[in-house]
Amino acid sequence: MRLTVIGTGYLGATHAACMAELGHEVLGVDVEPDRIAALRSGRLPFYEPGLDELVAKHVASGRLRFTTSYEEAAAFADVHFSCVGTPQRADGDGADLRYVDAVVETLAPFLERPALVVGKSTVPVGTAARLSARLAELAPAGAAARLAWNPEFLREGYAVEDTLRPDRLVFGIDPATPETESLLREVYATPLAEGVPVVVTDFPTAELVKTAANAFLATKISFINAMAEVCEATDADVTELSRALSFDTRIGGRFLNAGVGFGGGCLPKDIRAFRARAEELGAGPALAFLGEVDAINLRRRDRVVALAEELCGDELSGCRVAVWGAAFKPESDDIRDSPALDVAARLRRRGALVSVHDPKALDNARKRHPELDYATGALEAAQDADLVVHLTEWAEYRALDPKAVAEVVATPRLIDGRNALDTTAWRAAGWTVRPLGRP
Ligand code: UDX
Repeated sequence: MRLTVIGTGYLGATHAACMAELGHEVLGVDVEPDRIAALRSGRLPFYEPGLDELVAKHVASGRLRFTTSYEEAAAFADVHFSCVGTPQRADGDGADLRYVDAVVETLAPFLERPALVVGKSTVPVGTAARLSARLAELAPAGAAARLAWNPEFLREGYAVEDTLRPDRLVFGIDPATPETESLLREVYATPLAEGVPVVVTDFPTAELVKTAANAFLATKISFINAMAEVCEATDADVTELSRALSFDTRIGGRFLNAGVGFGGGCLPKDIRAFRARAEELGAGPALAFLGEVDAINLRRRDRVVALAEELCGDELSGCRVAVWGAAFKPESDDIRDSPALDVAARLRRRGALVSVHDPKALDNARKRHPELDYATGALEAAQDADLVVHLTEWAEYRALDPKAVAEVVATPRLIDGRNALDTTAWRAAGWTVRPLGRP
């Protein structure tokens, strides 16, 4: 099939390359000429494992092309995926829909033939119905320009895998246009043939599946972090608690790792937008708990700062702190709402001299927080440090030899903000170790 993918960020670039991998002819569309120029030469403007190879492969095969022209997009294909971002609004907790709206406003006037626009972004419930009406109003094809909602659940770091073999597909369709379902089934023929389950439903349910999934995951993480707070008050061990809980198949162990909490471009803003939307709909009390989920999450960052103060003798001013990790999670260079970088910046504001290391996110971090120092190696960051704070659980930090690190620091003190390091080995090498939620 011929498809366009509008928006070439983490979601769109992945979707475009994966659709080409599934055998479709794909035209990626973005309003940023620099981004399009990079993609045309097979280069990605961000880090995602395996994606650069896939983009390069299909740029070379000719199945994947890029443009800045919506007119070209409308002429090229009759199925258009909208993959633009829905960041948090600057003036509140709701979602900023300007990019989602702009796709419909810009594309629709070029839709002269019957076409299907497929929304993939995470949006407040009710958005698809509104966009569907707007599309029909603006398109020369009128009601033959249709909309479907097909939320994306990919995780950064596993984006290619999650797109080619998703846990499930969700098709939100207008009951008046059942033929849109067969078009979507044709797009996803390969994963469907491999047995990927599909839920075909209406617009609002499809929109809610995504926000509900992210709310559940955020709640699970904050649940275990709340347990960590209780553990801290009683000298219990949250990692053993979590392990014991995980054997209960009703609970399961995934997303039950206590630490400095969740960040990234999705969970934090999605739970805030979900709650804001529920309030608009008069269902505020149903999601009031998400305020608590957010608060627990942010308190973990306070806890790390408090531990740093405790370890450095209540005086962070002039204290040399090495921060390991800037990305919001490993295998990503994404620093959006990153707990690691937020903690680093807070330590700096309290007067600490902070040296940050991250295997992939240094360029992004430097642009956002030029006031911090950056090191190109974990050991370099730790040189003469009074305290090391481990905040993003990259495998390379687990592979470090605690004895070798002890030799370069001023004082061997460590906060493990991800409960990912072997505390026994670090203590045996002479380190004072303070994990989160553990004695
Ligand atoms: C998330 C959802 O998983 C994905 O389905 C959705 O489409 C977008 O949002 P992503 O933002 O890529 O994906 O990251 P995810 O792997 O979910 O991790 C989110 C955050 O939670 C990270 O900061 C991670 O460090 C943290 N986390 C995750 C924990 O603190 N503990 C855990 O047990 C799991």
